Amino acid sequence: MPVLPIRQLPDPVLRKQAREITELNGDLQRLIDDMTETMYAAPGLGLAAPQVGVLQRLIVFDVSHRDGGPRDLQVVINPCITTREGEVTREEGCLSVADFSAEVKRHARVTVTGLDREGQPLTIKGEGLLAVVLQHEVDHLDGILFIDHISRLKRSLYLRRLKKKAAAR
Ligand code: NI
Repeated sequence: MPVLPIRQLPDPVLRKQAREITELNGDLQRLIDDMTETMYAAPGLGLAAPQVGVLQRLIVFDVSHRDGGPRDLQVVINPCITTREGEVTREEGCLSVADFSAEVKRHARVTVTGLDREGQPLTIKGEGLLAVVLQHEVDHLDGILFIDHISRLKRSLYLRRLKKKAAAR
């Protein structure tokens, strides 16, 4: 199970719409395993397929492991946010957005439906950190990054810094 390279802003693949998954085959199972490995190696709380250059609607996440607890891997194929409630502001970062984090306002509680890796329907009710991770990862499938939820000023300051860094390379 190889660790895959994680695509970095401004890679255009991060801005594209991912496609619905229609076939649960061996390639998909391999992709799930590779994304899982990549997420834990990074380490990150979650990873969406476009972040490894695959435009398919697939996310993996684990919000329990970071405190040194046991792994609790979750895989959702074709995730869809079906309910949204409340409001919460938390600091977010992203494996595809280097050297930057910012406070992002999101819904405090969400319900996500989709399929597990065997193709069985699944429903996840999340609040707190889990709700934030779910919204962040599902956003990736629509080409949305957390920096799209911050002020235009903060975003342009970051993007300018990123451009400068790229030019210096
Ligand atoms: Ni991200």
